[in-house]
Amino acid sequence: MANVAVIGAQWGDEGKGKVVDWLASRAEIVVRFQGGHNAGHTLVVGGNTYKLSLLPSGIVRGKLGIIGNGVVLDPDALLGEIEKLRAQGLEVGPHNLRIAENAPLILPLHPALDRAREAARGEDKIGTTGRGIGPAYEDKVGRRAIRLCDLAEPETVSAKLDELLLHHNALLRGLGAPVFEKAALFEALMALAPRLLPYAEPVWERLDAARREGRRVLFEGAQAVMLDVDHGTYPYVTSSNTVAGNAAAGSGVGPDAIGLVLGIAKAYTTRVGSGPFPTELHDATGRLLGERGREFGTVTGRPRRCGWFDAAMVRQAVKIGGVQGLVLTKLDVLDGLPELKICTGYRVNGEVLRRLPFAMRAQAAAEPIYEAMEGWSGSTRGARSYAELPAQAVKYIRRIEELVEAPVMMLSTSPERDDTIALRDPFAG
Ligand code: IMP
Repeated sequence: MANVAVIGAQWGDEGKGKVVDWLASRAEIVVRFQGGHNAGHTLVVGGNTYKLSLLPSGIVRGKLGIIGNGVVLDPDALLGEIEKLRAQGLEVGPHNLRIAENAPLILPLHPALDRAREAARGEDKIGTTGRGIGPAYEDKVGRRAIRLCDLAEPETVSAKLDELLLHHNALLRGLGAPVFEKAALFEALMALAPRLLPYAEPVWERLDAARREGRRVLFEGAQAVMLDVDHGTYPYVTSSNTVAGNAAAGSGVGPDAIGLVLGIAKAYTTRVGSGPFPTELHDATGRLLGERGREFGTVTGRPRRCGWFDAAMVRQAVKIGGVQGLVLTKLDVLDGLPELKICTGYRVNGEVLRRLPFAMRAQAAAEPIYEAMEGWSGSTRGARSYAELPAQAVKYIRRIEELVEAPVMMLSTSPERDDTIALRDPFAG
């Protein structure tokens, strides 16, 4: 089966939405396998702009969307997003959206704890989206989580709420934050049950059937490898595994079902939230990238930090994430810059490394080693073939391929879906 998985190869916001949308038009099923409504995908389809956080992007293209068990599901966020799409003329229901019944739920106490903890961290805050993602994953691993299927069993919800509140109210009290009452939470969940349960099913069965029928499945990653809870710039990461390997565990398929793994990378680098960012630019060039690239978070509206392309980091993401081909986005943002820099490694406490170290202090101390390249004067915006690109832009792409040790399989040259250069159909196997 020729499936495709798409993951971010930097710190998120690489323009996955557009690429996933482009690929979704060639797929039959689109699966989210990790993260939650901390993700933000902007899709521009036929002049309409859709902003999705939790729903698989393929829904906009009339495809079947599946939310896997690896996702943490905020019921209010889900229903709100469905409502918003409905208002834009797009009907979402159990006919085009299925949710793993074993997906853990985000409850109101999760964002409350997320925010209270961030406030308590002060200067050392992670810079989370405040959506309760971390606390919800903690409850999943702590074996306390209320899962979608539990909503059919009021007794289970009641018993789990007792356990959850014992844990959370102690923490909230300790942090000086308001505590939660069981009755209100229970009633809210029971009211949500009839609205959510029609979407619930063991999605692994559907995916198994899809596999036997040879259907094309697209696994849509959220966040990115450098935000992976194991492999990213810990602790400044999200709370899930963002690598392609998690597409299997996060949806209930075997590793051989994942297929081709595409890593999305911007032609430069951005990051939201705190944490190390060796190639960050605090100068006019950094501001220019931010303005031209419209670098504001889809979810939180926060301005993104901007910097040069970090090939050492993307190489690491390629290796760890299992990336077989890169999709390079937003090349046009670099149009007209006289000189470009690419980071090829780091100087860390006197040592030269080709990878970002894991230890916190070493990570913070990593100084980029740059290679300079001449920029190009022409425009790359809207190009639909390599022949339309300035020679120097092609040189930049080729150098990136060499340094990250992966081929560039697709190039996105504007927010419009069709302004895409694909060297081959990723679903062709
Ligand atoms: P959390 O996922 O809300 O816990 O946030 C943890 C870190 O991941 C923070 O630095 C966030 O800014 C970052 N993050 C979470 N989701 C995204 C995303 O979709 N794009 C970029 N960064 C994200």
